[in-house]
Amino acid sequence: MIGQAKRLIELVKIETQSSNAIKNMVAVTSGKGGTGKSFFILNYAYQLSSMGERVLLIDLDHNLANIDVMLNLTSENTIGGFLLNKVLLKELPTEVRPNLDVIFGDSGKLQLPEKRKEIIDYLFSSIRKMGNEYDQILIDTGAGVHADGLYLLSKADSVALIINPDPTSVMDGYAFTKLFLKEYGKREIKVVVNKCDNEAEGKTAFDNLNNATTHFLKTELKYLGTINYDNDVYKSIKEQRIFSEEYSESEVSNQIKSIISSIKP
Ligand SMILES: Nc1ncnc2c1ncn2[C@@H]1O[C@H](COP(=O)(O)OP(=O)(O)OP(=O)(O)O)[C@@H](O)[C@H]1O
Ligand SMILES: [Mg+2]
Repeated sequence: MIGQAKRLIELVKIETQSSNAIKNMVAVTSGKGGTGKSFFILNYAYQLSSMGERVLLIDLDHNLANIDVMLNLTSENTIGGFLLNKVLLKELPTEVRPNLDVIFGDSGKLQLPEKRKEIIDYLFSSIRKMGNEYDQILIDTGAGVHADGLYLLSKADSVALIINPDPTSVMDGYAFTKLFLKEYGKREIKVVVNKCDNEAEGKTAFDNLNNATTHFLKTELKYLGTINYDNDVYKSIKEQRIFSEEYSESEVSNQIKSIISSIKP
C-alpha cells in the first residue's frame, strides 16, 4: 500500500503541472441527506448543456450514488474502476444528452483503502486534466460532514450548499459551514434553498443562515436562489426523467435558470 500511495503522490505531481486545468468546478453538498442535491445538480447540468456549454457531471456519492438511477442508465465503467486502477478517467464519461457527459458512481460497492487524501488528490488532478474538453465540471456528493467529504469539497473551486427552508435544515447548513470553514479557512459558500413554498420563504431561510454565519463565524454566504417544492419533481424522479427536460417552462426550471446566471463569477 505504501508503494501504491507513493506512486499516487508522484502521479499527482505530474498531473497538476497541466496548464489547461479547469477553474470552475462546482460541488454540491448538504448537512443532512435528501435536501435535493442530486436533483439540483442534474437539472443544473442539463440546463447548462442545453445552453451550449460542454458539461461533465460526476457522481462522487460513493455510498448512495444515484445519478444513474435518476437517468435510468447503467454503465460498467464507474468511478470505482478508475480508483482501483482498472480504467482511465477519460474512458468513463457517458454522453447522456448533447453536451452532457456523466461519470457514474458506485453505490456502497467501493471500499477505499487507506491514504484517502492522496486518492482524492489524484482523482481531482485527473478530473482537472479533463478541463480541456469541458466548460463546466459539476460534482454530486453524499450528505454529511465527515472528514473525507469535507476534504473532497475543499478540492472543488466552489461549494453549493443545498438546504431546505425548515429550521433544522438551516441548522444543518450552519453546522456544515462551521466545520468546513474551521477545517479549510475562509471560502465562499453558495447557498440554494430548495423545496420552498415561494421565493420569500427561501430568502428568509437564507437570511437566517447568513445572519448566523456572519455573526458567529464572521463569514457571509452567497445567496444563489430559491427553488420551489413541486410534486412534478418527485414524479420525474420516479419516472427516471430529467425534470427540466420534461417541464422546461415550469417555475422550478426557471428558478434553476436564474441560479445559473447568479452562479457565474
Ligand atoms: N424542488 C423539489 N420539489 C419536490 N420534491 C423535491 C424537490 N427537490 C427534491 N425533491 C425530492 O426530494 C427527494 C430527495 O432528492 P435528492 O435525491 O435530489 O436529494 P439528495 O440531497 O441528493 O439526497 P442524498 O443526500 O440522499 O443524496 C427526492 O425524492 C426528490 O423527489
Ligand atoms: Mg443525492
